[in-house]
Amino acid sequence: MDFLKKNVDKIVALLTVMVLALFALRIALFLTFSPAGEGTFRYWMYDVLGIEAAAGEERPALPPNQVAWPFDGPLGQYDMASVRRGLQVYRESCSACHGLNQIAFRNLTEIGYSEGAAKEIAAEYTVTDGPDAYGDMFERAGRLTDYFPSPFANQNAAMAANSGAAPPDLSLITKARGDGPNYVYSILTGYGDAPDGFEFNSDVTNYNPYFPTWEILMMAPLFEDMVEYQDGTEANVEQMAADVTNFLMWTAEPNLDDRHKMGFKVTAYMVVLTILLFFSMRVIWRRVKK
Ligand code: HEC
Repeated sequence: MDFLKKNVDKIVALLTVMVLALFALRIALFLTFSPAGEGTFRYWMYDVLGIEAAAGEERPALPPNQVAWPFDGPLGQYDMASVRRGLQVYRESCSACHGLNQIAFRNLTEIGYSEGAAKEIAAEYTVTDGPDAYGDMFERAGRLTDYFPSPFANQNAAMAANSGAAPPDLSLITKARGDGPNYVYSILTGYGDAPDGFEFNSDVTNYNPYFPTWEILMMAPLFEDMVEYQDGTEANVEQMAADVTNFLMWTAEPNLDDRHKMGFKVTAYMVVLTILLFFSMRVIWRRVKK
């Protein structure tokens, strides 16, 4: 007992060191054997400890550029002129490979097209309908009630035409990816020459550090003056990328404007109600307090 009493400080120190060593071992195992997503605590630990960024995921995508979108914030609203320009970009570029199967031509009246104009756009597409009286499918011009047709007959055809990766449907892409609008914008503007010494895993991919692995099968879909905007807006890559992103945000969340307006009304109502209730409370309790 005497020995214990005399050396209590040493024993405590020894135990502490043992616990800390076990803890460090635990962290080391945890870090070395599991990959970490960007922005997580573990990713930061890799960085601090200088462990090869993400064991498991080679070249994690760069965090997307942050853009100030008109629809951001609780009062944000769509810039409908930009949404319509984005539709033009979608139709003239993206639609060659990506579907938009949640959007019907009649929905275009919600972004400022007249019914006649939406009908005209629909009629420019060929859709498959049927079966007819003989049981055959047939093709006809699109109508207001049709949805944007997919560019490929099926998933396999889409994969075969694109070196093995089917281009995803874009209707909900801004909701399906983290930081969606900024992600889409960054991918579209993120192409460029690979830095010296960059090793491609495949010879059909393109350099794009905003996509995981920094290699994407999609070729740069936008280039200067690719579209001619009716309203005279300059069609540089950043502008077209922002326009198509505004459009794809609308396709994913067409009710955002109404939702934000309603939120504002409800908040204003609650504020007024609170003030009224506060004063009526004072009136009602006045006599009691005296
Ligand atoms: C020539 C065909 C083609 C065109 C045109 C095209 N894409 Fe793609 N896109 C692809 C393919 C193929 C992929 C899958 C890439 C991969 O997995 O490496 C892809 C992937 C994407 C992704 C990433 C999807 C994900 O899973 O995170 C986005 C976003 C995207 N495309 C948006 C667009 C937009 C917007 C346009 C129009 C401006 C467009 N694409 C035009 C073929 C195309």
